[in-house]
Amino acid sequence: MSLKGKHIVLGISGGIAAYKSAYLLRLLIKKGAEVQVVITPNGKEFITPATLAALSGKPVVSEFFAANTGEWHSHVDLGLWADLMIIAPATASTIGKMANGIADNMLITTYLSAKEQVMVAPAMDLDMWAHPSTQRNVATLRADGVIIVEPQSGFLASGLTGKGRMEEPEVIVLAAEKYFADRDRAQDLQGRRVLISAGPTYENIDPVRFIGNYSSGKMGFAIAEACAARGAEVTMVAGPVDKRLTLPEGVRRIDVTSAREMAEVMRLEFADADVAILAAAVADYAPAEYSEHKIKREEKGDMILHLVKNPDIAATLGQCKGNRVLVGFALETDNEASNACRKMERKNLDMIVLNSLRDAGAGMMTDTNKVTIIRRDGSENVYPLKDKRAVADDIIDEFITLLPAESE
Ligand code: CTP
Repeated sequence: MSLKGKHIVLGISGGIAAYKSAYLLRLLIKKGAEVQVVITPNGKEFITPATLAALSGKPVVSEFFAANTGEWHSHVDLGLWADLMIIAPATASTIGKMANGIADNMLITTYLSAKEQVMVAPAMDLDMWAHPSTQRNVATLRADGVIIVEPQSGFLASGLTGKGRMEEPEVIVLAAEKYFADRDRAQDLQGRRVLISAGPTYENIDPVRFIGNYSSGKMGFAIAEACAARGAEVTMVAGPVDKRLTLPEGVRRIDVTSAREMAEVMRLEFADADVAILAAAVADYAPAEYSEHKIKREEKGDMILHLVKNPDIAATLGQCKGNRVLVGFALETDNEASNACRKMERKNLDMIVLNSLRDAGAGMMTDTNKVTIIRRDGSENVYPLKDKRAVADDIIDEFITLLPAESE
């Protein structure tokens, strides 16, 4: 991932790991970030401002006033400019000052003025890291919303292992990239209307009996929650799902029972949608006749239930989808990928989420899922086992690239 155009304040305090900050700075610049270095007076004992200024292409800020001109360095402006402040290395002393607002140098005043995210890579002696005072201060920073890049392990004087060594610059850069990726996708479905089908359908035989399946609705609910969290306007058409599922905040829910009802509501709602995700396990067949009274044991000997085919909701929507994006699911037991691809073609889907019943922890009635996502262009991504909420974000990350650019 690129950090192009990102404004990063790199805070350097006085620890031996400061020599690694030059490398960190170089990595950030290589990724396209604009970096302003702020260094503590002690930091300068470990690495020279000249090196850092050369690498960043900007004068390094350390004192409140520039030595030669007396010009005031504005920590407030720096705090506003930064998209991210990374303090690496952060010594025990710097962490303590941050936790308690002791603003006796430019780095801490900049921290106190920072409007966006702050990330800290602690670096200290292992015993200092383990000290309750340090741990208390780190906990305070965490509670204040600071991201802590956990230090690496090493051996304590006692021979036991502990932490304290600053994490490698590559790992700190990855943490920064993850932060921006999470932040940028936070509201990436804003203005999009998402329609989701969830759960099983029940096909009634008589007032007390039905044909159903084991779908809980968890996957559909997780997708609804993830889409709403990312700013979408979400409508969920739910069959008789597990009663314990709670409706995610901001989601409009329409309850249905049978496949026919689901088909009708989905067809109407699809008109206003940008994308439809068909997570429901729709019954393929329904009894040809519904008995208004409870079928009695005495009425029959052996019984033959005549079933008729239900409408294929996915295929129906596929025929009228225009520039809408259609995402289907396939639960397969064998020839998984080729079956899923054929389903995608037949129903005119843009993407299909495949679960194999051969994978433990995948499919119905579990909190987890293991999916392979196949697109119409043939590209295929295999994902590891994850909880359904995380799978939902993966599904969104895939279909979002297929949405047409938003019209004004
Ligand atoms: N689907 C649907 N309407 C149906 C049947 C399925 O909308 N009547 C959707 C499901 O929600 C899912 C996809 O189509 O997104 C594939 O469902 P699946 O049951 O695997 O497909 P079928 O066409 O029923 O194929 P088969 O049962 O033969 O595997």
